[in-house]
Amino acid sequence: MPTLFEEVKIGNLELKNRVVTAPMGFAYTDPDGGYSERQIEYYVERARGGFGLIYPTATMVTTEFEPAPMPNVLENYSQATRLAMLCEKVHHYGAKVCVQLSLGLGRVSFIDPYTAPKSASEIPSFFFPNLICTPYTKEEIKFLVQKFGNAARLAQNAGADAIEIHAYGGYLIDQFLTPLWNKRTDEYGGSL
Ligand SMILES: Cc1cc2nc3c(=O)[nH]c(=O)nc-3n(C[C@H](O)[C@H](O)[C@H](O)COP(=O)(O)O)c2cc1C
Repeated sequence: MPTLFEEVKIGNLELKNRVVTAPMGFAYTDPDGGYSERQIEYYVERARGGFGLIYPTATMVTTEFEPAPMPNVLENYSQATRLAMLCEKVHHYGAKVCVQLSLGLGRVSFIDPYTAPKSASEIPSFFFPNLICTPYTKEEIKFLVQKFGNAARLAQNAGADAIEIHAYGGYLIDQFLTPLWNKRTDEYGGSL
């Protein structure tokens, strides 16, 4: 049986060991959502300590519909430049970087008690159930998909070794994946 400190291959990704912390969003971003020096150094310390894989925080691909829902954002070259710094420093210690990309929180957004968040369908928002979410239009979904691809490309060009899709925990992608929240009758609804 392999041990924690043995190398492993996941697809084309080779890790020097299996030491990794699950992705966790945290504050201290730069004001535009880019990775701050403080965040970068936090991950570099892990790499220096011997981690095989580093997950920076869940990273939004756009702020178009959720202004600042999560700590980090990757939608332009300036933010990508700071991710590139993170990747270069982490790589220096032989660790790899997996960027977790997110479409957002959807019904779990906490905008304010009067503004309905957007989601897959007209379902109650999580924090203020009297607020019924506004469904994304097909055009908006296409925009989100395009932004996801854009962020993935930015991450790849910045030196990230892998992308993870933030599709768990009842957040926006998850809201599209279950009939409990996705009641659409267009091509974005129904069975997978
Ligand atoms: C403060 C905090 C932030 C988190 N942020 C994310 C995140 O950005 N992406 C994600 O996939 N999971 C996130 N999680 C979930 C963790 O990655 C992990 O799955 C969860 O804590 C369960 O793992 P554990 O049993 O090792 O604690 C977060 C958890 C915490 C406590």
